[in-house]
Amino acid sequence: MSQNDTKQGNGDVFSSSDRDGFIHRAFMRGAGHSSAALRRRPVIGICNSYSELNPCNAGLRDLAQSVKQGVIAAGGFPLEFPTISLAEPFIRPSTLYLRNLMAIDVEEMIAASPIDGVVLLGGCDKTVPAQLMGAISAGKPAIMVTAGPRATGRLHGEALTIDDLWTLSDRRRAGELDDDEWQAIEGSLVPGVGTCNVLGTAVTMAMIAETLGMSLPGSSLLPATSGARAALAEDTGRRAVELTRSGQTPTDFVTPAALENAFRMLCAVSGSTNAVIHLEAIAGRIGHRLGLHVMAELSQSTPVLAQVRPSGPHLLEDLHEAGGLPAVLNELQPMLHTDALAGTGQTWSQVLGSVTSQKHPALRSAADPVFAAGGLAMLHGSLAPAGAVLKRSAADPRLWQHRGPAVVFDGVADLNARIDDPALGITKDSVLVLRGAGPVGGPGMPEVGQLPIPRALLHQGVTDMVRVSDARMSGTATGTVVLHVAPESAEGGPLALVRNGDPIVLDAVEGRLDLDVDAEELRRRTPATAAPAPRRGYAALYRRHITQAPEGCDFDFLTATAEPPVATRPTDH
Ligand code: FES
Repeated sequence: MSQNDTKQGNGDVFSSSDRDGFIHRAFMRGAGHSSAALRRRPVIGICNSYSELNPCNAGLRDLAQSVKQGVIAAGGFPLEFPTISLAEPFIRPSTLYLRNLMAIDVEEMIAASPIDGVVLLGGCDKTVPAQLMGAISAGKPAIMVTAGPRATGRLHGEALTIDDLWTLSDRRRAGELDDDEWQAIEGSLVPGVGTCNVLGTAVTMAMIAETLGMSLPGSSLLPATSGARAALAEDTGRRAVELTRSGQTPTDFVTPAALENAFRMLCAVSGSTNAVIHLEAIAGRIGHRLGLHVMAELSQSTPVLAQVRPSGPHLLEDLHEAGGLPAVLNELQPMLHTDALAGTGQTWSQVLGSVTSQKHPALRSAADPVFAAGGLAMLHGSLAPAGAVLKRSAADPRLWQHRGPAVVFDGVADLNARIDDPALGITKDSVLVLRGAGPVGGPGMPEVGQLPIPRALLHQGVTDMVRVSDARMSGTATGTVVLHVAPESAEGGPLALVRNGDPIVLDAVEGRLDLDVDAEELRRRTPATAAPAPRRGYAALYRRHITQAPEGCDFDFLTATAEPPVATRPTDH
């Protein structure tokens, strides 16, 4: 059922004998469609986030053609339409700031257009959750084709992937890479179209879409420009017709049980921390709430299996060779809700019945995991009363339990201006704190949580430090980086009260993050001031309705119930 109050469009209008039908047919015939084509059913929209301003999604133009072939082969009528597209490297202040705008665009276009079902074409990080959120709320049958990971770069005979950017940037700052070398890296880092070629946010979200049954099994890791991905797109077009004829909508697939499966999968592959926010936003669109406490419980009972960049030495293509998402779920099978549906409409139990486990160094078995459990740590404490997140599997285990003096930065400009200032007296034991970078303060939680190691410490060989912020970090980044601290400083969270030298205590084993300062002293302090609220345009809408990270940063009026859902456990599977 649609969550929209207004009447939805559908493909029946093309058969209508009234004036409305006449106008629809006349305009379509003017665009070159035959009257025979206009009689085909169902009408399948192809919601394409292709854009020249989004190179990661550049392959979607060709994939749309393959989807059309599949739709036509199954007797349907495909009609492609564009939406907003969000390129992670280009959009300011952040793509999360615009994710909900894109979700609104997707929802309203699906709901309003004369289509019966839709194939979503997304890729770069936020385009996938935005399309899933919009399609769930639109309530028409929907299935997704993701752009697929781009090829691995090569330089001097070595594999070069996007996560190398962080160490290479540090080496450049430390003066180890000259201009010629830097130019050579620039020309090799992104060797083609497609999404980032590591287990960053885009690939993580593609794997989540597959786990949720919103794309076909085995699809998420197929290389961007492979024939296999084109064939998958054609199959998806066919499946969209079948799905639409069956009347199944996203809420038949995206259930509380499927969301728990997706979260376990996220933990098992050490995927992007951004997915924690997106999963909660997706959950909100079905009126559900996972909640950080349930996530902590799931993480504590899920083994970490993948050893893929950025959280391991192996390449994404190795994980694909190891069997991809079905192989991951196969290892997790005893702890999954296997009666949740895959994209084929079969249960995961049926799909996994034909998957055979194979030994591969990129994907360990549940009996011999990388970590027994707890790849993602959900933290609570006096510095994060509503929670924070640490990708423990990507952090130095020596820093999982750490106490150190805070060095505080007020926003990204302050960070950039002072991080290398010797007067700050930063040591390897310091805790770098960034505030003013949350959902409101950022705005949109820019991916700056992986604060750079100060140059002087780089020269001493320091490669990791405890960092704490209300920001996010790139899915391609690693380190002992505590993220999504809530409430954020701009909303009066304790982060706003931290001063240089305050002891901060991280205990990623017990799931705690504390500010070890006397409560009486904190009451005497004046919080850092937040910027005045914007008064016009999208910025004003965003400021009024954005929720905090633990609620998924959706707009409060876009959840299924138009109010924050309450955390519950699945009972339907
Ligand atoms: Fe687009 Fe990574 S920057 S997928």
